[in-house]
Amino acid sequence: MEEKKEYSCDNDILCGVNKPKDISNMTDFEKKHIPVITAPDKVNKNEEFDVIVEVGKLFPHPNEPGHFISWIELYSGDTFLARAYFSGGTSSPKVLFRVKLSHAHGFLKAWAMCNLHGLWQGEKPIEII
Ligand SMILES: [Fe+2]
Repeated sequence: MEEKKEYSCDNDILCGVNKPKDISNMTDFEKKHIPVITAPDKVNKNEEFDVIVEVGKLFPHPNEPGHFISWIELYSGDTFLARAYFSGGTSSPKVLFRVKLSHAHGFLKAWAMCNLHGLWQGEKPIEII
Protein backbone atom coordinates (compact mmCIF):
# COMPACT_ATOMS: atom_id res chain seq x y z
CA MET A 1 0.00 0.00 0.00
CA GLU A 2 1.26 3.42 -0.97
CA GLU A 3 2.02 5.83 1.84
CA LYS A 4 0.06 9.09 1.85
CA LYS A 5 2.33 12.05 1.22
CA GLU A 6 1.92 15.44 2.82
CA TYR A 7 1.72 18.19 0.28
CA SER A 8 1.90 21.92 0.40
CA CYS A 9 0.41 24.43 -2.00
CA ASP A 10 2.58 27.20 -0.49
CA ASN A 11 1.09 30.37 -1.95
CA ASP A 12 -0.32 28.80 -5.13
CA ILE A 13 -4.01 29.83 -5.13
CA LEU A 14 -4.76 27.33 -7.91
CA CYS A 15 -3.67 24.44 -5.68
CA GLY A 16 -6.10 23.01 -3.12
CA VAL A 17 -8.84 24.95 -1.34
CA ASN A 18 -8.30 28.57 -0.35
CA LYS A 19 -9.48 29.76 3.06
CA PRO A 20 -8.88 33.07 4.85
CA LYS A 21 -5.52 33.10 6.64
CA ASP A 22 -7.04 35.13 9.51
CA ILE A 23 -10.87 35.09 9.54
CA SER A 24 -11.02 38.21 11.73
CA ASN A 25 -8.71 40.19 9.45
CA MET A 26 -9.38 39.14 5.86
CA THR A 27 -7.71 40.82 2.92
CA ASP A 28 -9.88 42.39 0.21
CA PHE A 29 -8.75 39.58 -2.12
CA GLU A 30 -10.02 36.99 0.39
CA LYS A 31 -13.28 38.92 0.97
CA LYS A 32 -13.81 39.02 -2.79
CA HIS A 33 -13.72 35.21 -3.12
CA ILE A 34 -15.09 33.70 0.11
CA PRO A 35 -18.59 32.26 -0.33
CA VAL A 36 -20.79 33.60 2.46
CA ILE A 37 -23.46 31.23 3.80
CA THR A 38 -26.70 32.57 5.25
CA ALA A 39 -28.73 29.88 7.03
CA PRO A 40 -30.48 29.30 10.37
CA ASP A 41 -28.25 28.46 13.37
CA LYS A 42 -30.56 25.55 14.26
CA VAL A 43 -32.87 23.50 12.05
CA ASN A 44 -35.23 20.59 12.66
CA LYS A 45 -34.16 17.13 11.51
CA ASN A 46 -35.68 16.20 8.10
CA GLU A 47 -37.32 19.61 7.68
CA GLU A 48 -36.54 21.75 4.61
CA PHE A 49 -34.84 25.09 5.08
CA ASP A 50 -33.25 27.78 2.90
CA VAL A 51 -29.53 28.34 2.51
CA ILE A 52 -28.28 31.35 0.58
CA VAL A 53 -24.70 31.32 -0.66
CA GLU A 54 -23.17 34.45 -2.15
CA VAL A 55 -19.74 35.42 -3.41
CA GLY A 56 -18.92 39.13 -3.40
CA LYS A 57 -21.05 39.92 -0.36
CA LEU A 58 -18.04 41.09 1.68
CA PHE A 59 -16.23 42.81 -1.22
CA PRO A 60 -17.40 42.90 -4.86
CA HIS A 61 -15.97 40.27 -7.20
CA PRO A 62 -15.83 40.95 -10.98
CA ASN A 63 -18.60 39.36 -13.02
CA GLU A 64 -17.56 39.52 -16.67
CA PRO A 65 -16.78 36.95 -19.39
CA GLY A 66 -13.05 36.92 -18.58
CA HIS A 67 -13.30 36.84 -14.78
CA PHE A 68 -16.22 35.39 -12.88
CA ILE A 69 -17.40 32.80 -10.36
CA SER A 70 -18.22 29.72 -12.43
CA TRP A 71 -19.92 27.56 -9.80
CA ILE A 72 -20.91 27.24 -6.13
CA GLU A 73 -21.30 23.95 -4.27
CA LEU A 74 -22.95 23.39 -0.90
CA TYR A 75 -22.00 20.63 1.56
CA SER A 76 -23.06 19.47 5.00
CA GLY A 77 -19.64 18.76 6.44
CA ASP A 78 -18.07 16.81 3.56
CA THR A 79 -21.42 15.52 2.23
CA PHE A 80 -22.38 17.06 -1.11
CA LEU A 81 -25.82 18.74 -1.22
CA ALA A 82 -26.09 20.92 -4.34
CA ARG A 83 -24.28 22.81 -7.10
CA ALA A 84 -25.15 25.91 -9.18
CA TYR A 85 -23.39 27.11 -12.35
CA PHE A 86 -22.94 30.72 -13.50
CA SER A 87 -21.90 32.39 -16.72
CA GLY A 88 -19.61 35.42 -16.64
CA GLY A 89 -21.50 38.69 -16.98
CA THR A 90 -24.97 37.22 -17.31
CA SER A 91 -25.68 35.57 -13.94
CA SER A 92 -24.55 36.52 -10.45
CA PRO A 93 -23.01 34.13 -7.91
CA LYS A 94 -25.84 34.33 -5.41
CA VAL A 95 -28.02 31.25 -5.02
CA LEU A 96 -30.73 29.92 -2.76
CA PHE A 97 -30.59 26.19 -2.03
CA ARG A 98 -33.51 24.42 -0.35
CA VAL A 99 -32.16 21.49 1.67
CA LYS A 100 -33.04 19.13 4.51
CA LEU A 101 -30.69 17.22 6.77
CA SER A 102 -31.26 13.97 8.64
CA HIS A 103 -28.24 14.34 10.92
CA ALA A 104 -25.59 16.81 11.94
CA HIS A 105 -22.11 17.33 10.58
CA GLY A 106 -21.71 20.48 12.64
CA PHE A 107 -21.34 22.92 9.79
CA LEU A 108 -22.38 23.85 6.28
CA LYS A 109 -19.57 24.35 3.80
CA ALA A 110 -19.63 26.19 0.48
CA TRP A 111 -17.05 26.00 -2.29
CA ALA A 112 -16.87 28.67 -4.97
CA MET A 113 -14.74 28.45 -8.11
CA CYS A 114 -13.28 31.63 -9.62
CA ASN A 115 -12.13 31.03 -13.20
CA LEU A 116 -8.90 32.96 -12.50
CA HIS A 117 -8.30 32.55 -8.77
CA GLY A 118 -9.28 28.97 -7.97
CA LEU A 119 -11.37 27.31 -5.29
CA TRP A 120 -12.52 29.13 -2.13
CA GLN A 121 -14.24 27.83 1.01
CA GLY A 122 -16.75 29.40 3.40
CA GLU A 123 -18.33 27.71 6.43
CA LYS A 124 -21.20 28.23 8.84
CA PRO A 125 -21.96 26.22 11.98
CA ILE A 126 -25.42 24.64 12.06
CA GLU A 127 -27.18 22.49 14.64
CA ILE A 128 -29.74 19.80 13.81
CA ILE A 129 -32.38 19.33 16.54
FE1 LIG B 1 -11.40 36.15 -8.91
